[in-house]
Amino acid sequence: MKKKTILVLGGGGYVGCNLVRKLLKKNYQVIVYDLFLYKKNVFTDLLDDENLKLVKGDIRDLNKLETFLENTDIIIHLACISNDPSYELNPNLGKDINFDCFPKLVNKIKKFNIKQFIYASSSSVYGVKEEDSVTEDLKAEPITDYSKFKLECEGILLNESAKFNKTIIRPATVCGYSERQRLDVIVNILTNHAYFNKKIIIHGGDQLRPNIHIDDMSESYIEVIKNAEASNNEIFNVGDENHSVNKLAEMVNSSCPDAKLIKEKVVDQRSYKISSDKIFNKIGFKTKKTISDAINDLVNAFETKTLINTFDDDGYYNIKIIKQNLKSLLND
Ligand SMILES: NC(=O)c1ccc[n+]([C@@H]2O[C@H](COP(=O)([O-])OP(=O)(O)OC[C@H]3O[C@@H](n4cnc5c(N)ncnc54)[C@H](O)[C@@H]3O)[C@@H](O)[C@H]2O)c1
Repeated sequence: MKKKTILVLGGGGYVGCNLVRKLLKKNYQVIVYDLFLYKKNVFTDLLDDENLKLVKGDIRDLNKLETFLENTDIIIHLACISNDPSYELNPNLGKDINFDCFPKLVNKIKKFNIKQFIYASSSSVYGVKEEDSVTEDLKAEPITDYSKFKLECEGILLNESAKFNKTIIRPATVCGYSERQRLDVIVNILTNHAYFNKKIIIHGGDQLRPNIHIDDMSESYIEVIKNAEASNNEIFNVGDENHSVNKLAEMVNSSCPDAKLIKEKVVDQRSYKISSDKIFNKIGFKTKKTISDAINDLVNAFETKTLINTFDDDGYYNIKIIKQNLKSLLND
């Protein structure tokens, strides 16, 4: 049987690097299409893998992207300016990459024999909610432009009448080790500071923050691929543990016992709890890892010097790299 080919837009990013390795292990052919903004050589261990094709390209360059659509069965769209601060550095650029090119992309792929399109949105589309548990049927009320355009893209995809299966994933904050490491997401920030600076600084602490281990995040995309029909036209929250910031800090502390907990005034009061019951029940996706596993994986990467210069290497911090590349990204 012919292997299925998956085109992963943004496959060289934090989640993509983990997901692509899992897809290859599942015997898919994978095309990674990415600008490799943050780290260039994220697949050096896989250069001889005949099932992996790496393409340096911009999702806004549809002529280039089109050349890879002929042989593609499934698209996973992860590419974007992927947090609020990086987005806000230059909202025109953020809109260009995260929104303006999206309808053109969806229109383009209609001409090919694509069978499934999975779009990485964000659980930040809900904004601030009073409900105890945020489910997919609650009204999304995004606060920032980053979230607002995620929601707009969801609508464009779901309203598309083309015959391919469509699924929206709304991830919680991802944590843990990746070959393209991010150290600008909450659990990873706390662990980096705890391990190297021996400090865990928490602002407030009672706020709930949903997180998910990066391995589970990737597995959720794979489950959606395996259950394409059941996932068609669905929106799925994908999170696991809804811990308070205090609890996250305690977990980090138990893996980094030398670190001192320091409490500071609340700067960000947002508190929310997402429910992922729908994806658990509808397609049987189950998380297998914990947030503590993610912390321990990071500590191990620090200890073995797999991750070094964690404060000085700008590649760990999206905002720093976007700032450095603003001019060229705007001219592309
Ligand atoms: N990591 C999280 O906690 C989290 C939470 C919610 C949602 N998400 C979503 O999941 C997806 C993946 O997140 P991530 O943490 O891996 O992000 P990331 O920033 O590490 O990866 C994004 C990738 O997209 C690429 N990219 C950016 N602009 C591009 C362009 N114009 N053309 C081609 N490639 C481009 C970057 O080079 C990068 O490799 C994103 O869509 C993000 O919004 C992530």
